[in-house]
Amino acid sequence: MQTKINNPQQKRTLNLLKQLKYNLPCPVSPIIPVPQDLKITARLRVISKASLGNPSEIKLLAKWRKAKANWFPTIFRVTQEGTRRWAQQQLLENPLRISFMIEDLLKQPIGHLGLNNIDFTTRSYELDNVLRGNPAIPGIMTAAVGAFRQWVATHLNLTDTHLRVFKDNKRAVALYRRCGFKTVKTVPLKKTTQGDTISYVETEDETQRGERFFLRMKYFGDS
Ligand SMILES: CC(C)(COP(=O)(O)OP(=O)(O)OC[C@H]1O[C@@H](n2cnc3c(N)ncnc32)[C@H](O)[C@@H]1OP(=O)(O)O)[C@@H](O)C(=O)NCCC(=O)NCCS
Repeated sequence: MQTKINNPQQKRTLNLLKQLKYNLPCPVSPIIPVPQDLKITARLRVISKASLGNPSEIKLLAKWRKAKANWFPTIFRVTQEGTRRWAQQQLLENPLRISFMIEDLLKQPIGHLGLNNIDFTTRSYELDNVLRGNPAIPGIMTAAVGAFRQWVATHLNLTDTHLRVFKDNKRAVALYRRCGFKTVKTVPLKKTTQGDTISYVETEDETQRGERFFLRMKYFGDS
């Protein structure tokens, strides 16, 4: 995927993402500590090329994605090979996207989160791929979103955080409100089915709209 690079800061950010994702020497650590009440309780670790060569990590990503399918805009038959291909093509090869595993201090995976759709002109990005697969450490998702947002502002120079979430996803909406996000728009969705894949896409056409909605949320500061 080609991305037009306009200035040195943008170039630096894109280089950093590439170095982190491809396990290359990098001035920034691929590990982000996650504090809760001033104590480090977990860490974020880049999902990288090394992850693609780790069948147990791919198996876990597939298992979690399958278990939480209803909360993602595309519902499809999840396989390990498809998950590995997704990680290669959609995650590693997309220069404007990165994801991290959330792990406890013994490196046991808890979930993941990441960013997508960087817009350098507005210094904005979309929080992406947020999922808890393991019930350990209550509140860790809240802490992880906060630590990640701060890391992105410091190291990638991106300060405007947005996200999209299904309106009926009460747990996720509660998480994002706790993290300082507020709804800026409610968008109707159209459901389309092709083979065994179901997709929800945004529509402005009243006659096309179905029963589900996205909330577009934006970070306005910690409450
Ligand atoms: C959305 C999702 C990540 C939220 O996870 P979560 O476990 O609710 O989030 P947290 O880790 O912040 O835990 C919050 C819970 O811990 C409790 N908690 C305990 N200590 C806490 C602390 N220090 N800080 C925050 N919450 C704390 C909260 O009260 C809350 O409990 P409650 O729901 O009973 O009120 C999870 O439900 C999920 O993976 N859903 C499926 C995938 C999905 O929908 N992703 C979003 C796509 S947009």
